[in-house]
Amino acid sequence: MSDYLWWRDGVIYQIYPRSFMDADNDGIGDLSGITQKLDYLQDLGIDAIWLSPVYLSPDVDFGYDVVNYREIDPKYGGMPAFDKFLQAAHQRNIHVIMDLVLNHTSDQHEWFQQSKLSKDNFYRDWYIWKKARNGGKFPNNWKSRFGGSGWEWDHATEEFYFHMFFKQQPDLNWRNPKVVDEILDMIKFWLDKGVDGFRLDVFNAYYKNINFADNPFKLGITKFDQQNHINDSDQPEMFDFLQKFRQLLDSYPERYSVGETFMGDHHTAAKYVGDQALHAAFDFSFINGRYKASSFYKSIQQWEDVLDQKGWPNYFLNNHDDPRSATRYTRSEDDERLKVLATLLLTLRGTPFLYYGEEIGMRDIPVLRKSDVLDPVGRHFWPFYKGRDGCRSPMQWNADPYAGFSEHEPWLPVHANHEWRNVESQQHEQNSLLNYYKKIIKIRKTTPALQKGMYLPITYEPHKILAYTRQTSQQTALIALNFSKKNVGLILSSQFVTGDWTLLISNKRDSLPPIRDRKIMLAGNEALVILQG
Ligand code: GLC
Repeated sequence: MSDYLWWRDGVIYQIYPRSFMDADNDGIGDLSGITQKLDYLQDLGIDAIWLSPVYLSPDVDFGYDVVNYREIDPKYGGMPAFDKFLQAAHQRNIHVIMDLVLNHTSDQHEWFQQSKLSKDNFYRDWYIWKKARNGGKFPNNWKSRFGGSGWEWDHATEEFYFHMFFKQQPDLNWRNPKVVDEILDMIKFWLDKGVDGFRLDVFNAYYKNINFADNPFKLGITKFDQQNHINDSDQPEMFDFLQKFRQLLDSYPERYSVGETFMGDHHTAAKYVGDQALHAAFDFSFINGRYKASSFYKSIQQWEDVLDQKGWPNYFLNNHDDPRSATRYTRSEDDERLKVLATLLLTLRGTPFLYYGEEIGMRDIPVLRKSDVLDPVGRHFWPFYKGRDGCRSPMQWNADPYAGFSEHEPWLPVHANHEWRNVESQQHEQNSLLNYYKKIIKIRKTTPALQKGMYLPITYEPHKILAYTRQTSQQTALIALNFSKKNVGLILSSQFVTGDWTLLISNKRDSLPPIRDRKIMLAGNEALVILQG
């Protein structure tokens, strides 16, 4: 397609580098491993990789605590491995999106090491330091998302510093122009290297209320949720930064940015999308939704409404922080529901994001004992919340003892189902989920209506069918998804009954279903995509 724009018309695939492929057999995935698997990704049909952080990090939060933004961690192969990976990806027309973790650094970062030395250190004001309130109390009521107060006392200099996440992740002071300048310079460093875009970790938390006012109370489960976070996130100053950031990006061809909207809904996300702001921001409602036609219908509709056909949505069913969709939505090892979801994700108006292993229906590994938990968030909240290890297990390439991920025992266990649920076996099985993903990605990319067409809902019945069209002036694609186990009839309005339809894909049939009395019968768990024009 001549006006093809990779981040709008393509498919983005998130890789959690620790868990994708371990080329040097130390039990931790690495960049050479990813490079080895680029042919697989090209064959799958993706256009871009979003890499979770690979910068130098002590891994308190597995890469989301950065020690040096300009260095690649040696455990991932250092800068030489990154350069090779980037070049090899570009050779295959695969774009690369880096994760930028800029709300906080690691406490091991040189800036913080300096900052805590003394109150008059050059870097003191690069972080958020505050005196105790009368009698040694916390400066205000702000909490850490990962448990406890957000304030940590520093004995040496007798002040608190703020951390939205772990105490080993001190928040940067974004009101200091030197911080902003340094960060923009660092971003330029990656742009000059040829990186194609960035995912901004918890971007809407960068700026905090200038007066450090308390957050008001609201109902919630954790202490953190019991606050309305109006003062420790979403401050108006963020837009000034985004403008500068976007100007920098736009001075290079076809660069992209997507923000991880922290604690916000679709309204919050949409606020940050625009020509002077981000290209896209995540809305988490698919992750939080239920396996019901009405739940997905509502999420899509609110995203469409708030972006008002002008903005470009994005959709994802998985990421590295939440239980996998296969675990959320299926109890068995059956993949039919996952084919329905794949069809949904890849036929909507908006950029689809996949998460490694989703294409073979990977399930979360069970997390049974606290002593096995590696994610510190899981250890903190055990047993109410068991952390994020479940969705981060090694990619299942084959049936070998370590699933073809490594020859060494991996950092997290491989799922027991890897013996039969793996890439190799699914490549050979015609009706596998992997082959279904491949096929539907290809269909999306070769069908203008599915790539660029308007989204128009036809109908939804809460537990049953979700049906919509995607339309350009030349083509109409009709998508009908049966969320129930039973056969269900979809009644079509007269405009759809006339004309010639062709079958694009179905997980239940090889030829067009009959349309009788304006009705199409869908089999249980059927996903059907047909095309006119
Ligand atoms: C984001 C990341 C998560 C990380 C947190 C703190 O939510 O997705 O993995 O723990 O930010 O950086």
